[in-house]
Amino acid sequence: MFKKIVKNLEPSSTLKINEISKELEDSGKEIFKFGFGQSPFEIPTNIVSALKDNANHNIYLPMQGMKKLRETIAKYISKKKKYEYTSGNIIIGPGTKELMFLLQILFDGEILLPAPSWVSYYPQATLGRNKVHWIQTKRENNWFPAARDIEEIVSKNKEKNYLLFLNSPNNPSGLICNNLEEISSIVKKYNILVLSDEIYSELTFESSFKSISNFCPEKTIISDGLSKWCAAGGWRLGYFVIPKNLNLLMEKIKVLASETFSSVSAPIQYAAITAYNSDQSEYLKKARTILKGVGNYIYEILKSNNTIVNKPDGGFYIMPEFVNKNFSNSCKMCNDILVKTGVALLPGTDFGLPPEKMIARLSFTDFDGKKFMQNLKNNAKVDENLLRKFAPKIVEGTKRLKGWVEST
Ligand SMILES: Cc1ncc(COP(=O)(O)O)c(C=O)c1O
Repeated sequence: MFKKIVKNLEPSSTLKINEISKELEDSGKEIFKFGFGQSPFEIPTNIVSALKDNANHNIYLPMQGMKKLRETIAKYISKKKKYEYTSGNIIIGPGTKELMFLLQILFDGEILLPAPSWVSYYPQATLGRNKVHWIQTKRENNWFPAARDIEEIVSKNKEKNYLLFLNSPNNPSGLICNNLEEISSIVKKYNILVLSDEIYSELTFESSFKSISNFCPEKTIISDGLSKWCAAGGWRLGYFVIPKNLNLLMEKIKVLASETFSSVSAPIQYAAITAYNSDQSEYLKKARTILKGVGNYIYEILKSNNTIVNKPDGGFYIMPEFVNKNFSNSCKMCNDILVKTGVALLPGTDFGLPPEKMIARLSFTDFDGKKFMQNLKNNAKVDENLLRKFAPKIVEGTKRLKGWVEST
């Protein structure tokens, strides 16, 4: 009854861990939900008000997205990138995940996926019937591919089309890509298309966020949306910025949009105008301060001879590697951690890392972000006292994880 191509696909592992954690919790076990990652904060109030005020909008909007919203995003993104984009370069979708799926459907070529990568790129490539080349990366290079690793693959067959996925700040590593310029030279040399997944860009802890589009704008599709920076994952609004020279690609995505989701919910599009034309700097400053403080705390507690870990640069993930010879794969290790400590993590295998690497993704969002933000005084330092008060699960879960490392 099922097509071969979907037979072997399982539900997204991030959603699965959420369900398992819930089952254990229902049976009375205390669970530290460090597996599933979504913003712990509330949506800024003026954006919520905008949604309420626009609930009456009931007609289908244009399949590319409402012109006023696209103009607003074009203005916002042109300023951020110091590159001129117009409303014609923007397409609005029900989350970037859906737009990326449509891209895989229309793209005819091979996909270059750095390992580790976000969980959905690979299954989407499979559904789009595109061959995937995993590019193994190294901690020394912040878990991003070196240009020579990309070149090694694409130089073997220069006739093919290639699409490279880059996600900085990264899910799962929490790190940013420091060799964008080097990668962009290979991108230009071999005419590679890049999907720059910038969904965590507004949550970069230091102010100097750089995108590959700064180095090769005409080769880069930028992917971003409301889900992470303004905590509106459930609203389902994302967008692609497609440079003018890729107009044909824009036209084809529009066709697929018109035959699938038609257009994004009208009230959400109206509210998104407010999200992109109102000043959210105070909200974002607080969100970054909290996330950076929480990430640094976990880093400081975990780093040891037995745990190799990098301090996160943005977003809400950290990716420890445990020096441990007791498990044959990272999945078994994460199960052991969950059963013994109640800490739910995702194994590195879910992100394309070799199973024998004892790596896991820890999502540090198990706290009440609204309360934390309300109580964060201007210029306050996020120290252990504050964390005990407003992120007690983070403190206790990290302690238990450290205990597990020391006893295993
Ligand atoms: C790296 C990455 N890209 C894309 C997405 C999807 O975001 P959206 O809500 O826009 O579909 C996520 C969400 O988890 C993500 O972590």
